[in-house]
Amino acid sequence: MCGIVGYVGKKRVVPVILEGLKRLEYRGYDSAGVAYLENNSLVKYRCEGKLANLEAMMDEAYLSPSHIGIGHTRWATHGAPTEDNAHPHSDSTGKLVIVHNGIIENYYSLREELKAKGHTFSSETDTEVLVHLIESFLEKDLVLAVRQALELVDGSYAIGVFWSEMPDTLVAARNQSPLVLGVHDEIGSFMASDIPALLPYTKRVVFLEDGDLAVITEKGNTVFSIHTGEQVERKETVIEWNAAMAEKAGFRHFMLKEIFEQPQAITNTVSGRINPETGEINIPEINLSGDELAAVKRIFLVACGTSWHAALVAKYWIEKWARVPVEVDIASEFRYRNLLVDENVLTIAISQSGETADTLAGIRLAKELGSKVLTICNVVGSTMTREADGTIYTHAGPEIGVASTKAFTSQLAALFLFALFLAERKNTVDAEKRIELAKALIDIGPTIEKELPVIQEQIASLIESFYDCRDFLFIGRGLNFPIALEGALKLKEISYIHAEGYAAGELKHGPIALIDKEMPILSLVPKDSVYQKVISNVEEIKARQGRIILIGSRGDTQLSTLTDDVIYLPVIAEEMNPILYTIPAQLLSYEIAARRGCDVDQPRNLAKSVTVE
Ligand code: F6R
Repeated sequence: MCGIVGYVGKKRVVPVILEGLKRLEYRGYDSAGVAYLENNSLVKYRCEGKLANLEAMMDEAYLSPSHIGIGHTRWATHGAPTEDNAHPHSDSTGKLVIVHNGIIENYYSLREELKAKGHTFSSETDTEVLVHLIESFLEKDLVLAVRQALELVDGSYAIGVFWSEMPDTLVAARNQSPLVLGVHDEIGSFMASDIPALLPYTKRVVFLEDGDLAVITEKGNTVFSIHTGEQVERKETVIEWNAAMAEKAGFRHFMLKEIFEQPQAITNTVSGRINPETGEINIPEINLSGDELAAVKRIFLVACGTSWHAALVAKYWIEKWARVPVEVDIASEFRYRNLLVDENVLTIAISQSGETADTLAGIRLAKELGSKVLTICNVVGSTMTREADGTIYTHAGPEIGVASTKAFTSQLAALFLFALFLAERKNTVDAEKRIELAKALIDIGPTIEKELPVIQEQIASLIESFYDCRDFLFIGRGLNFPIALEGALKLKEISYIHAEGYAAGELKHGPIALIDKEMPILSLVPKDSVYQKVISNVEEIKARQGRIILIGSRGDTQLSTLTDDVIYLPVIAEEMNPILYTIPAQLLSYEIAARRGCDVDQPRNLAKSVTVE
């Protein structure tokens, strides 16, 4: 979604802001803009499309001596991605300027009231309404005017504002949309919607909470409550990520780099949390006592998109090993149905960003209904981690490609850890089995490390035959059914090929009608407990002349009798197959999308962190 960067300090502001915005490009956007103060006048550049267009307009601005400014990448919600609708927006005097992420839900009525008072608007955006609303209260005190305006606003926002009459101060505020401040003792102060924008300058950050307003000067920041005006304490956090981690390191795309980072990401998720001798799991950040966990009668897993697929796999693991019934919900559905959630329920939100609006709303609702809430998350200090009772961090490092890869497999690793942890507390698995399962989890990272180049080579031979297909089906059973869904999502989001995932057994209940000699069907067929069943489904496809791709076990001679297009993987503990079988599905999608010339890291219309409903 949209990105915000603001800076006040000793450095020239334009390069700082453009560099920050570049590091937020991965979030997805369709127009961009920058505003800064020079000789006490506001200077503004805005344009449609990518940051490169903006940079091309700003050659001279790079050298501006200005030391205060804000920038924005916009993902259109209200109004098309045009220059007029791009942020920053200014008020009628041209002295006050704003960037905004989120949605002002009552913008229409506010705009009508402002129009009646003589304000005129040059864009279709809800944001321009907000800057005029602030103007309508502004006399001498910008902070007071921002607070008064925000009291009238319904909806979500992260904003950055400055006024040429207060040339040393940025004002930031947030409600349901992430905003983080960057702290540096020498060079000045920063604000951004997401951490990577700050990484070239500082690792010291302060996360704002809903209802916070920050006054930011070169010397630092002070945080107040929007509603009471009283000062509030927000503690500083030091981020472990560094700027190099958010760079491509010689790979063609971030997505490919992140696919290859999976062995390390998974190892980071599990390391220090398993005792290999006893199979015991140690996750102190879970913050739930043994008694609380033992009392859990039902679990709700709540997530969106790829994270929802991780939840679907986890249901198998938790029910099998901890013997607790699990319901899996898409967050946007969870929040609007009549939930049977109470204090006997544990709700687990799975989210790589920790900011997804629907998932966040889901955990707030679950808490209201008395449930304990745990989050599985990759971003330290994100909103969900602050609101949940406990967190299992995945420690996968920054994920820049919009399509989730390493965040997904490390979510799976964290969820398997949790299943074992709960099984231990519930006493549902004996020590011998626990050691065996823990070992399988420890081994999966190194196995993927070894197999990645082998898989890549096998995939390469398929691309020319399949890159220009119009449709694709992915099928799997049991633990691998969610991986079929994930494979289809990966392919469709980055290559724009229409793809669907199905439980293999469902094929004959409808989708089989699609099969003809044009339709590729990728089947996940490891030698596991449902192997024979999936093979029968593949036979049905063969009988109808479908184009079959199989991903199965090395040494399985039957596979080559069904098709020439087989990707072989090693035979490992069945429980770990969903993690291993994800890798070829990701690589196939990646190579097809790259062959089609798609913008793999920033697919059209998508955003990395979906902070609006
Ligand atoms: C797909 C993808 C999305 C996210 C979804 C939830 O590759 O990345 O489907 O999984 O938007 O995001 P998080 O996990 O941040 O809540």
